[in-house]
Amino acid sequence: MKFQGPKGTRDFYPQEMAWRNFLHDAWRRVSVRNGFEEIDGPIFESLDLYKVKSGDGIVNELFHFMDRGERELAIRPEFTPTLARMVADKANSLSKPIKWFCTPNLCRAERPQRGRLREFFQWNADIIGTDPSQEALADVECIFVLIDLMRELGLESSHVKVKISHRVKVRHILAKLGVSDDHMLGAFELLDRRDKMAQEDFIKAASKLNLDEDTVTRFDQICRMKYSVGNLSKVTEALGGDVDLSGLEAIDRYLQEFGIADWCEYDLGIVRGLAYYTGAVFEVHETTGVMRAMAGGGRYDKLVESFGGPSTTAVGFGMGDVVLADVLDDKGLLPADVAPRPDVFVIGMTDLAQQKLPGVVSQLRSAGLHSRFSYRSTRNVGKLLKEAEKASSRFALILDDQLENGIGSLKDLASGDQTEIKIEKIADHV
Ligand code: HAM
Repeated sequence: MKFQGPKGTRDFYPQEMAWRNFLHDAWRRVSVRNGFEEIDGPIFESLDLYKVKSGDGIVNELFHFMDRGERELAIRPEFTPTLARMVADKANSLSKPIKWFCTPNLCRAERPQRGRLREFFQWNADIIGTDPSQEALADVECIFVLIDLMRELGLESSHVKVKISHRVKVRHILAKLGVSDDHMLGAFELLDRRDKMAQEDFIKAASKLNLDEDTVTRFDQICRMKYSVGNLSKVTEALGGDVDLSGLEAIDRYLQEFGIADWCEYDLGIVRGLAYYTGAVFEVHETTGVMRAMAGGGRYDKLVESFGGPSTTAVGFGMGDVVLADVLDDKGLLPADVAPRPDVFVIGMTDLAQQKLPGVVSQLRSAGLHSRFSYRSTRNVGKLLKEAEKASSRFALILDDQLENGIGSLKDLASGDQTEIKIEKIADHV
């Protein structure tokens, strides 16, 4: 009987695993240099943990099951509820601000499509428990970390944009347009889906929010407004004057201070699907707009409290590996040679050398060198050198009866230079 992997999952053969490690290493390197500590949690949680605050979008995509004790559980579709639960659990003993990162695998029962799978990895970095007066600084530090990662991987501000908005401000704007409190959630959901909808479907859905034709047009215009950093007064102007953009003003300043203004823009159409966000929200999109969001995040100041913890400020983001890899590949930034290369490929040309080869390999490995040898029975040096080259080894160590004297021939496979060398000196040379 033949089986296939489940729909929307991936098998990681060595090349795919090398790319996966390449991304995870970059995530880890960037997190650490930005002052984040690594954590993790369980891959399943109580189903209720997601029902409370994540919103219908995610709840409809849960893989859930019942254990033998009839407890309802769900495989993690995101990490934020686990993080909030962990913080709430130990809130008093954790020193603040907390800066944590993790790179969990997550599962969502989404329809598999380009950029969206049913199991994927997601880098999360969150800052929790800063003083409320430092909100904007923490918001922008998170955005900076995202940009630091993209720079690290060779992306430029012309390739991607961080689109920033603010839920409270958008709520004010919508209220001024005439959206009632009852319809606010619907209006947010509509904004979130705007890019994926045809104009006429949008108009139809917006009319259901009890808005007249003019207001629907205005609503549509607002969704599409984009402004560069340093131009907040233009947003105010476009909205007809008296709107309070105070939260965004501090963000605007810090974006300029961190030197990342050209990577960012304000886009009032970004509200994010998850229900727990309370303030600034942001998403990273590739500039041509053909791909799904590369990352998303925002401020969620009520979540820790709703899990029984104290009132705690929080902001963070999640970046998936799927779209990131697609974008890097598209820009030619996914290096082909990311798998670990052997330092030395050991070749035995004589019976004696072949017999003693395991001892030499063992010695080289103990010295910390990545060393390999052939499992083929041939003594044909040409064929064995080909095998060494195919493995991308940096050197080949060719052994003959000189091994009796502890000597072999070390060939640099890039330059072709070959030198006689004492086996014990190889680690110094390579
Ligand atoms: P999210 O917007 O649901 O946010 O996901 C963030 C990112 O995860 C997306 O932009 C995308 O790169 C990736 N992602 C989501 N679903 C899939 C999928 N089915 N296949 C592949 N990649 C996917 C959150 O999850 C929030 N919990 C992020 C957060 C952390 N907010 C605050 N802290």
